[in-house]
Formats: sequence, C-alpha cells, structure tokens
Amino acid sequence: MLHLASQKIVEAVDGAFVTLTVACLILMIIIMGALVWFAFKYHRSRHPKPARIHGSLKLEITWTIIPTLIALWMFMVGYDGFQLIRTVPDGAYVVEVEGKQWSWTFTHPETGVTDSTLYVPAGRPIKCELSSSDVLHSLYIPAYRVKEDCVPGLDTYLWFEAEVGEYNVFCAEFCGNDHAKMITKLIALPQADFDAYLERRMKLRFAPVTDVTKVMDENSDDMVGMVGDQAAVVALYSTYCKSCHGANGEGGLVEGARSFRDDPVAKWKRGVTIPDIFRTLTLGIEGTRMAAFDNLSAWERFALAHYVAGFYREGPQRSVADQAAYEKLVKEYKLDEQKSVIVHFPIDAAIDDLAKGP
Ligand code: CUA
Repeated sequence: MLHLASQKIVEAVDGAFVTLTVACLILMIIIMGALVWFAFKYHRSRHPKPARIHGSLKLEITWTIIPTLIALWMFMVGYDGFQLIRTVPDGAYVVEVEGKQWSWTFTHPETGVTDSTLYVPAGRPIKCELSSSDVLHSLYIPAYRVKEDCVPGLDTYLWFEAEVGEYNVFCAEFCGNDHAKMITKLIALPQADFDAYLERRMKLRFAPVTDVTKVMDENSDDMVGMVGDQAAVVALYSTYCKSCHGANGEGGLVEGARSFRDDPVAKWKRGVTIPDIFRTLTLGIEGTRMAAFDNLSAWERFALAHYVAGFYREGPQRSVADQAAYEKLVKEYKLDEQKSVIVHFPIDAAIDDLAKGP
C-alpha cells in the first residue's frame, strides 16, 4: 500500500510508537541501572556513614533541561504525524458517521444511502465526518491507524485512504453495556464496484411497492423477495433495532424493549400487523425510548416492519392485516411511487460562482 497517501499516517504513527517505546526503554535501563548500582554501591555494609547533601545547582539544572528537551523532542515526533492526520487531502469522498448506543450508521450524503457497514471507494481519500446521537463514541480503524472521538454536539472528523479489502472498525470509547459489540467492517471496493453498491442501495431505498398482495403472502421467501435484498434488511435491523430488541427479536436489552416473540396481540401498543409496525417505526412511541425512524425512507421502514413481523410469525395469535389495511398504508405513505433521490447540492461551487460575480 506504499502508493497510498494515508500510508504516511501509518508510517508516522508506527514510527512515533517505535521511537517512543525505544526512548522509554533506554530511559528505563539508565534509571533502573543507576538505582540498582547505587543500591549496591551505597549499601550500609560498604557505606556505613551516609553523606549529607544540601542541593546541587548544576545537577538540578541538568535534570530539568535534559527531560525538557526529551519531552519537546517527543512532542515533535508526535506533531509530524498529527499534522498529517489533521490535513484532509483535497477531493476527499465524504461519509457521515453517526455513533449511537450501540451501532454505527454510515451515510453517503450525495445519494442518501445509509448502511451499518462502511463501504468506501478504494484508492481515494475518505473523510469521515463524525457525530454522536447520545454519548461519547470513538471511530477506530486500526489498519489505517486512525481514531477519533464522536462527541454529541461537536463536529469531528478523520480521514484515510484504503486499499481494496476488508478491515475491522471498532468503537474505542467505553460507551455503555454493549460498547464491545460496536464492531463493524470497512469494505473498500474498486470505484466501479462501489458505484454499483450505491446504485443497489439506492434502488432498494427508493424502490416503489407495487404489488401489495405479495406483501401479504405468508411464505417468508416471498416476503424476502418482495423486500429485495435480505442482507440489506438485516443490516437495517442491526443498525436500528438490534441494540434494544436483540438479534433474534428477544427484546429486553434496554429497559422496556419489546420482545418481538411475545404474545403479540395482548402487549403491543399500536397493534401487530405490518402496517401497525410501520406506523410505530414512523411515529415512535411517546414516553418510551422507541424513536421515530423518520430518517429512514418509507421503503426501509416497510422492509423493517416485515422483518420484525417475521419474528412472531409462528406465534399462536399472529394477527394478519387485510388487503384494505395494506392499501391504506400504501396510499397514506405513497409507497407505490418512486421516491426521489436526495441530490447533493454543490454549495461550494455555488459560492465560488457568486464570488466571481457576473
Ligand atoms: Cu460506542 Cu463504545
């Protein structure tokens, strides 16, 4: 990966790490050596009468100046790398990153695509703009030696450039019970594959719901077919539901989080049919931690409602909505229309044009 711009960051961080470790080792050997040597040399048996020493200006100046110089040198070693890490190259591809107890959401602002896995084009600087919706988190990509805190109310960022491949992404700031589970992947694809990924996700996100009868089919394969891309739906579930409702819909991961496997009819606030769940996802439930997921497209909420409904499909009292309920939902949320794609407005270019004048 020698040609990559961010390889310099890797070299700077590793260089600083090795340099400081070696410096500390040398200091440790000198200090501990002197300690052992003095303990031997001035042992009571060899040196029965202790000397009285009342300060030494020369010594005091020496042991002030030398450590100060060492500390300044260590600062300079770190500062070189710090400069690189803080300076994002021009033309970086921007990904918005949100940390949340306990998952990551990566948004590609130009297309509105969101994912819980960080897909990026390879061989191009990537700028991650970081935020948090609750507590402190920290985005950490060890392969590229970058780590930066996500702070509520503060804009932070990091940048890197990846080779084609798959890398670990961690949360490096203790953020509560499931901090250790805030693990995901960075997947760097060749530009063409990355474009195809965005297109696939956009199609899924903004696809119209055309065949309501298929939605009502109890055969799960058909439901998955209808939803289009099961992996993407599982990713949505992992991002937005799993941390409270569990990987298998078992619930109870935070106080009051509903089990999707419960007797559904008796306990669900807004009802248990897919249209009911869709409304809950859209509106949230007041007075609880169940948020309104209005940042998701209608289609994504619809796909999630399916997935959630799937958990209790074997339950004895599963309640099925009738065709009319579906059609009402489709009409209410215009699910049968192709949703327009959020198009990034080139604000910088517009400002430049204004500055140039007529
Ligand atoms: Cu988020 Cu630890």
